Amino acid sequence: KSFLYKLWKGDVSSKMLNPRLQKAMKDYLSTNKHGVRFKGKRNSKLTGDQLFCELKERVNVKTIDGKEAPFSTLGWEKHVPQIPLGKLYTHGFGSCAVVMSAGAILNSSLGDEIDSHDAVLRFNSAPTRGYEKDVGNKTTMRIINSQILTNPNHHFVDSSLYKDVILVAWDPAPYSANLNVWYKKPDYNLFTPYVQHRRKNPTQPFYILHPKFIWQLWDIIQENTKEKIQPNPPSSGFIGILIMMSMCNEVHVYEYIPSVRQTDLCHYHELYYDAACTLGAYHPLLYEKLLVQRMNKGLQDDLYRKGKVILPGFKAVKC
Ligand code: C5P
Repeated sequence: KSFLYKLWKGDVSSKMLNPRLQKAMKDYLSTNKHGVRFKGKRNSKLTGDQLFCELKERVNVKTIDGKEAPFSTLGWEKHVPQIPLGKLYTHGFGSCAVVMSAGAILNSSLGDEIDSHDAVLRFNSAPTRGYEKDVGNKTTMRIINSQILTNPNHHFVDSSLYKDVILVAWDPAPYSANLNVWYKKPDYNLFTPYVQHRRKNPTQPFYILHPKFIWQLWDIIQENTKEKIQPNPPSSGFIGILIMMSMCNEVHVYEYIPSVRQTDLCHYHELYYDAACTLGAYHPLLYEKLLVQRMNKGLQDDLYRKGKVILPGFKAVKC
């Protein structure tokens, strides 16, 4: 049976990846750049429903609120939005779409279905213009990594991609989530452009994720995986899925678990081929996908044909 078929069934291990990806994963394990010291137990054998409830109980979408050092001392309480992310929409959203940037979404004709959701989440510099038929054109929220804010090629300050949407930025911090250490040495210095953008666009909701939230997700992935996962933050995709599970009644995730259109084309908007984009090298992406597959409430046929997974929102299910 093919790798893709096994992924749809949730029955894959990293041993089935190509040697180059396996080597990359091993190297990340030995480098342990973020100083991960996992104290939990691996391989807890939760069912999909139990895993959902575990996430619901433990996951707390936390953003920098300016109340902790060093941000408190630096006057960040007046830099961050007055209304926290979780309170922006008091009743949350009904149904939400999470649109992954995978090349496999090309020729999907999913655009209308995606736009029919109450809220649409996209990632980094993924465009809609020119790709409407496959990815839709509605964007409610964008999750951006710190490179988007700091790399001039992305034109963060003037690109329309980052206007009129809720922005949520993140940067890999040390596992200890020591904010002082992180502030002094972020992976990419997102703090300066963040404050500048907030000053210029005070009404745009724009948040920075708290490293505690990111590493809490990592712990849960590791606890529910037999193998040792890469000691690096989960991908933006997984982070986004969890943010939407906490804000929506139902979350439809597109081309995270690849459809029959699976391809090594990294992004639908870029001519660059690398299997690592779909299966992970730096991020524990394969393991994230196995957890999401385990919780899928959608039809198998939607998974094959649309690359779609349906997850309930946290408020929609009693645990
Ligand atoms: O590459 P980028 O992080 O901008 O893509 C957004 C998210 O989409 C990734 O974090 C990953 O979760 C998902 N993705 C994927 N397969 C790809 C490309 C992206 O699952 N080929």
